[in-house]
Amino acid sequence: MPDSIPLVNLKLMHDEIADELQQAVREVIDSNWFVGGPVFQRFAAGFATYCGVDYCIPCGSGTDAIHLALRAALGIGDGEQEVITVSHTFVGTVEAIAQAGYQPVLVDVNPQTYLMDLDQVEKAITSRTRAIVPVHLYGQMVDMPRLAQIARTHDLVIIEDAAQCHGAAFDGYKPGQLSRAAAFSFHPGANLGAWGDAGAVVTQHEPLAQTILMLSDHGRQAKHEHGEVGMNSRTDAIQAAVLNTKLRHLDRWNKVRRQVADWYREELSGDDTCILPAVDPKAGHVYHQFVIQVNDRNDLLKHLQNEGIGAGIHYPIPVHEQPAYEFLGLAPQDLPVTHELCKRILSLPIYPGMTRPQVRRVTGLVRSAVAV
Ligand SMILES: Cc1ncc(COP(=O)(O)O)c(C=O)c1O
Repeated sequence: MPDSIPLVNLKLMHDEIADELQQAVREVIDSNWFVGGPVFQRFAAGFATYCGVDYCIPCGSGTDAIHLALRAALGIGDGEQEVITVSHTFVGTVEAIAQAGYQPVLVDVNPQTYLMDLDQVEKAITSRTRAIVPVHLYGQMVDMPRLAQIARTHDLVIIEDAAQCHGAAFDGYKPGQLSRAAAFSFHPGANLGAWGDAGAVVTQHEPLAQTILMLSDHGRQAKHEHGEVGMNSRTDAIQAAVLNTKLRHLDRWNKVRRQVADWYREELSGDDTCILPAVDPKAGHVYHQFVIQVNDRNDLLKHLQNEGIGAGIHYPIPVHEQPAYEFLGLAPQDLPVTHELCKRILSLPIYPGMTRPQVRRVTGLVRSAVAV
C-alpha cells in the first residue's frame, strides 16, 4: 500500500528548520527566563509588525485571547448582553464569549464560503448586542470592510477570531486593522503553531493593549500590585522562541498551502459531485484547511481513512447542537445551513511539504469514491 498521507504533517516543517528551532530554544534555556523576558518581548513585537498593528499581547491560548479582548473592550458581561458569532466554528469561540459573561447569539453561515452570513448578523442585532465576533474560518477572512460598516452603524465592537488565518487579508486589510482587536491561536496545528498551547491578541488601541496585558498577568499593575481579578494567561518563553522562529517561514509556508489548494482545484474541478470551497476575489486565503462538500461524506471519509489518508471534519457537530450549549435554546434547524453543512463537509490533507503526487493520490480516491 502507498505511504499514508496525514491531515497535517508538523514534523516536515519542524525537521526543515530543526537547527534554527534548537538554537532558539537553547537561548531560552541559557537565559533562564521562562516567563516573560526578552524572547517573549521579541515575539510580541515581531508578530505585531507582521500583522501591521501597533500592539500584540501573547497569551495562553486562542480561547483566552478572545476572552481577554472581550473583557478588556467591554468589561465582564452581565449574562444578558449579547455577542453575535457563528455556530460553525471551533467551540472555543463561543466558550470564550460565554466565559466573559455574554450571551452568545449564533447566526448561520454562507454555504459556499462557510463564513458568517453578514445579512444574518444585521438581523440578529438587538438593543442588547455589544459585540460581533467574526470567525475567519479555514484561512479565509470575513468581509471586514462590510462588517466594520455594520458595526459602526450600530455602535458595536468587533473582536475577530483569527485563530485559523495567520497571514490572511481581505482587500488588503489584515486581522486587527479594521476591528477593536483580533485574537489568534497558536495551537500546534495552526498555520503558525507553537509546541503547546499559546495565543495572542493584536490591536491598534494602546489602552486596550495595556488592559489585556494587565488582565493576562494576574491583573498586575506594578510589581506586587494587583488592580483587578485577572488570570494567568501568558505565552511562555519556549513557545515564544518556537513562534519567533516559525514566523520567519510563515509566508513561504502559506504560499505552499495556496499551491496545494490550486492543485486540488485543478484535479477536482468539473466534478459536480464534489463542491470546492468558494473564495471571495478580495480574500487572501491561507488555506488552514481545504474543505470540500460531498453527499455521502461519511462513506468518503471511511474510504479515505481505509486508504491511509488523514481526512477530517471541521466540525461534525455545530456548537448550537452541543450539550454544553443547550442553554442557548436553539434547535438544530434554527441554523439550517450550518446544520446541513456539518453533514457534508470534509477537510482534505493540506500542509507545507505536501507534493503534487500526494494531491493526485487523494483526489484520485475522492473521484473514484464520489463517482460510484
Ligand atoms: C476558529 C477557532 N477559534 C478559537 C480557537 C481556540 O484556540 P485555542 O485552542 O488556542 O484555545 C480555535 C482553535 O483551534 C479555532 O480554530
